[in-house]
Amino acid sequence: CNKLIVKLDKKLVDQLANVTSSASIACHKYIGKGDKLLADKAATDSMRKNLNKLNIDGKVVIGEGELDESPMLYIGEKLGTRIGPEIDIAVDPLEGTNFAANNLPGALSVIAISEENNLFNAPETYMDKIAVGKNIPKDAIDLDYSTKKNIENLADVKNKRPEDLRVCILDRPRHKKKIEELNDLRVNLKLITDGDISGALLVCDERHNVDLFLGIGGGPEGVLSASALDAFNCQFQCRFIFKEEKDIFRAKEMGIKELNKKYDLKEIVSGDSIFCATGITSGDLVKGVKINNNKYISETLVTHKSSNFKKVIRQENELIL
Ligand code: FBP
Repeated sequence: CNKLIVKLDKKLVDQLANVTSSASIACHKYIGKGDKLLADKAATDSMRKNLNKLNIDGKVVIGEGELDESPMLYIGEKLGTRIGPEIDIAVDPLEGTNFAANNLPGALSVIAISEENNLFNAPETYMDKIAVGKNIPKDAIDLDYSTKKNIENLADVKNKRPEDLRVCILDRPRHKKKIEELNDLRVNLKLITDGDISGALLVCDERHNVDLFLGIGGGPEGVLSASALDAFNCQFQCRFIFKEEKDIFRAKEMGIKELNKKYDLKEIVSGDSIFCATGITSGDLVKGVKINNNKYISETLVTHKSSNFKKVIRQENELIL
């Protein structure tokens, strides 16, 4: 029988949006309280509790540390009732811990899932990343090109001048040279202080007015971004950056043989996937949690690759922790 088995169905899409929405609500009371860890723990505990209620046989492939660092959602942790599809889960219960602790824009609760073995098992190390929107020829942008070449190619393809392009990059000393090169090219910058999942996703929709995302950020955040970028038919490349021996050891243990390999989007996420990012504080992608008439109002960016679903959904919730 050739019956198509849809593993990641619409019901699961809704359930995952509830998971990130509940995690954001759980985190809400810690916004602006100056304690990153408490805020992160609230989001993490909520996420674990609600994922464990779902009829999935899930395994965390991108989480917050290793088993000995629990109670975070650790890599290898099994989640769900074990009755249901086998899926890989990537989580960042609180992306932008500084944003939440200091009540600044852009804190998110994020999850991405794929069918088993379709999400890259990335170690917790840095990653050099580049992302562009859809309809850009494959060879126009490359992690290995110089900044100048990427900008000139992108300007050509978009029929714009470099000074009409906008590039999003994390404001970090490690990007000093890149930022100087971009300034020399008179490109507009959107410098972000944190939150490079959101930064990368700004290329997905023209209304954000970001043509290119680049720079070094967290590896786990790269995998999470890749899943949404895939649903939006955007391009993404990355390369791990290992600073310490222990990271190299861990990467090898995880089966990464070529440490300097440049990965393409499809090697990071393949097949069907679902991505949900709920706003904890309001940011570029979604609004933060609000309380209105004793209800929590939340906004979640949801993508589901196979059904081509890409939408910001608004939910009204009673408090479920
Ligand atoms: P946290 O939510 O863990 O604080 O991460 C925020 C973040 O800005 C990520 O978005 C980004 O990938 C990473 O930190 C960059 O790391 P660093 O602050 O070390 O440059």
